[in-house]
Amino acid sequence: MEYRTLGRTGLSVSVMGWGAGGPARLGQRDNINTESESVDLLLEGFDAGVNFVDTAEVYGTEDIVGKAIQQRDRDKFVISTKKSTRKEKFTPEGTIQSLEDSLWRLQTDYIDIYHIHGLRHDDYDYCLNEIVPVLNKMREQGKIRYIGVTEAFNSDLNHDMLQRALQDDIWDVMMIGFNFLNQSARETVLQPCIEKNIGTLIMFAVRRALSRPEKLSEAINTLIDSGEIDSADIDLSAPLMEVVENSDAVSLPDLAYRFCREEAGTHVILSGTSNPKHLRDNIASFKRDILADATIEQLKHIFRNVRSVTGE
Ligand SMILES: NC(=O)c1ccc[n+]([C@@H]2O[C@H](COP(=O)([O-])OP(=O)(O)OC[C@H]3O[C@@H](n4cnc5c(N)ncnc54)[C@H](OP(=O)(O)O)[C@@H]3O)[C@@H](O)[C@H]2O)c1
Repeated sequence: MEYRTLGRTGLSVSVMGWGAGGPARLGQRDNINTESESVDLLLEGFDAGVNFVDTAEVYGTEDIVGKAIQQRDRDKFVISTKKSTRKEKFTPEGTIQSLEDSLWRLQTDYIDIYHIHGLRHDDYDYCLNEIVPVLNKMREQGKIRYIGVTEAFNSDLNHDMLQRALQDDIWDVMMIGFNFLNQSARETVLQPCIEKNIGTLIMFAVRRALSRPEKLSEAINTLIDSGEIDSADIDLSAPLMEVVENSDAVSLPDLAYRFCREEAGTHVILSGTSNPKHLRDNIASFKRDILADATIEQLKHIFRNVRSVTGE
């Protein structure tokens, strides 16, 4: 497993990060896994070298992450969790309570990266003035090591909130929606993060469109209709399969993870699953060689104008 420095935090993190949310939620969303099966899945990833795990108060997986970490050496892992921005509890008092609850569920006395979750551009100034001072206080108390913010990619395709957040010297880490279908964060977020040495976590690397063929066909048809991609660039009977076949990628998710891994400015690529076989396949992807330049350039070219889909 490759390890990278997470920007100005200086933390050494595995390029593959465990995502305990997303469509899978470790198999808890649709009751695919029992709690102990989800704990075992996490541990298998940890034992393969993944030292980064992302969860959130709203995922319902913090306690599972806590149970897995208890079975390993806490200090060797980077735990990332998030404060919900749902209206009623997005207050200074609510933030203190949320953090205490997360610490309890995670069975730890510190969180490495505490994020504001899916912050909307309209709520940014409120967050800056009312919530960030609370986060700074909790950092002084040693309950948080670094402060992060995650975007609501499905409703903020232009990365407006993160572009605003980049103007303030507050955020140590940003979680960014990026994949080869929608590479719009490259100039607007990733490049400034490099310049400011901000740690980056990539979400949506695979999501649904790059893990389910029917979702990919849906996304490709939308993009042809909107004129964002050229139908001449794609074999519509089996979208992108020829890119996979002409490269050393073994599958679409493999291609998708390895594309993100090579993107300048990316540190941790988040990967979530409910399925032990998918976990093993994904670990193998992160251990494979880098993709050929020609493959990366082909994907950059096909999707260069895409702005309207996230891969959802
Ligand atoms: N705003 C935010 O803060 C925010 C939003 C979204 C996500 N996140 C974070 O980012 C993490 C990653 O989320 P994501 O949205 O990128 O999705 P994800 O959690 O990585 O989900 C990937 C999807 O692809 C499937 N999959 C994974 N590996 C596969 C493989 N090898 N073959 C076939 N299918 C595969 C999974 O289904 P199976 O269970 O069948 O494998 C799952 O449905 C989340 O877990 C969460 O921690 C944060």
